[in-house]
Amino acid sequence: MTSPNPEMNVPVVDVQHVTKSVTDSTGTLTILRDIHFSLAARETVAIVGASGSGKSTLLSIIAGLDVPTQGTVFIDGQDLFARGEDERAALRGAKVGFVFQSFQLMANLSALENVMLPLELAGRRDARAMATEMLKRVGLGERLNHYPKVLSGGEQQRVALARAFVVKPKLLLADEPTGSLDFATGETVMNLMLELNRELGTTLVLVTHDRSIAARCDRRITIEAGQVSRMEGPDTSAAAAVAPATGIKASVHPPLAPAL
Ligand SMILES: Nc1ncnc2c1ncn2[C@@H]1O[C@H](COP(=O)(O)OP(=O)(O)O)[C@@H](O)[C@H]1O
Ligand SMILES: [Mg+2]
Repeated sequence: MTSPNPEMNVPVVDVQHVTKSVTDSTGTLTILRDIHFSLAARETVAIVGASGSGKSTLLSIIAGLDVPTQGTVFIDGQDLFARGEDERAALRGAKVGFVFQSFQLMANLSALENVMLPLELAGRRDARAMATEMLKRVGLGERLNHYPKVLSGGEQQRVALARAFVVKPKLLLADEPTGSLDFATGETVMNLMLELNRELGTTLVLVTHDRSIAARCDRRITIEAGQVSRMEGPDTSAAAAVAPATGIKASVHPPLAPAL
């Protein structure tokens, strides 16, 4: 008996009414309020918003690195926060890749060793061959044994892309990946990321404050002071399926209460 293709129904990312507050001696600060959206396989979304609006916090929660105060996130149908930290880390290791503004390569490992690392953690015996292949794919076949400190910013970010994509993650989370690169290098890195994304069928959540980069994603979600203020692009989530077929789903929220 064949079961229905899960890719058809289960979103790769399903962010369900996520709220994040932090409390200290000065009171409670709400960083994210009722964030709700989902992404199908291969969809790309840009999260845009001013500095301090909550974009990185949202990405950390989708990664399971930070915990929501209310709501939850499903990755490929599995509730991230209904499991312990170890299980969450295993789910992340199996399904999620990351790219950061600051590259986050291991300084004491060569380019090749950096890319081999996630494969070795996954117990892959062919880590060296796979990592070599992926570094060639990002144009760094001549740089395998070089350490991050001798690579340019653009080259380091290409190593980071190779490391993220080499495990063929279902989901890639990228937090301002071109934010510390000059314009031309940023373009090269962005083109490569979108190419790899298409080749490997990855779902992409990209944080950026660059409108021209955001325009290259299927959808855009704007966050202001921790709330979704605007959604643009086709929403293929179940909620959208019952909404009028405008292709655009506006998200209306109550006014933001004072955060403090
Ligand atoms: N652990 C924390 N404790 C207190 N405030 C935090 C914490 N994490 C983030 N913030 C605050 O939440 C807001 C959103 O931060 P962040 O998600 O980094 O925004 P962005 O990535 O959009 O610039 C900022 O005002 C930041 O100072
Ligand atoms: Mg940020």
